[in-house]
Amino acid sequence: MFTIRQIGPEDLAIYKLIRASALKNNPDAFGQTLENFLMRDDKTHLAGLTKTAADPHSATFVAFDDETPIGMAGLVRQEGPKMRHKAFLWGMFIEPSHRGRGIGSMLVEKIIDAAKESGAIIQVHLTVVSNNIEAIRLYEKFGFQIWGTEPRALKSLNGYSDEIHMVLKIL
Ligand SMILES: CC(C)(COP(=O)(O)OP(=O)(O)OC[C@H]1O[C@@H](n2cnc3c(N)ncnc32)[C@H](O)[C@@H]1OP(=O)(O)O)[C@@H](O)C(=O)NCCC(=O)NCCS
Repeated sequence: MFTIRQIGPEDLAIYKLIRASALKNNPDAFGQTLENFLMRDDKTHLAGLTKTAADPHSATFVAFDDETPIGMAGLVRQEGPKMRHKAFLWGMFIEPSHRGRGIGSMLVEKIIDAAKESGAIIQVHLTVVSNNIEAIRLYEKFGFQIWGTEPRALKSLNGYSDEIHMVLKIL
């Protein structure tokens, strides 16, 4: 049985587990590296989780198979008076063993619902590596539209990757 719930600072261990798994399993899908993530201390992770949990316009969701975390996605509202009508979807990940079963879709739905319930957010943005067809299809299924491409957005040992920018207008 799959469930999804919002996490906060009390779920530090769960967050560290699922985010590290994402960066380990799909290093090319994210801007952050596993090494960089593991270098951060708990105080830094806790500060991030606390800030998101305290903001009614942001959220970090984790999907569970019974008690086991098997996916995550985050919504973070932008800061500053001219930016805070926008939020970013980040960190979308489903464990390889659980893909293709609709859990990624459930998480995107949660993110969109949270953005709508916020009342302050009019559009959700995201970036996705240009060859990540599964993720692009997932986002398009929910109405996200491509509005641009950033050439050579990411640099890794494998070379450069372009990133596609997508947006979903909810208001
Ligand atoms: C992208 C990802 C989150 C999808 O999760 P998922 O749970 O498998 O997704 P779902 O089962 O809900 O499928 C949703 C849609 O995604 C698309 N999709 C999923 N797997 C696909 C595949 N192998 N090929 C093409 N499209 C695919 C389809 O449009 C699918 O909708 P449909 O079933 O109605 O056709 C998952 O593959 C993942 O974690 N990938 C690695 C991390 C990553 O790339 N994150 C995105 C960073 S921007």
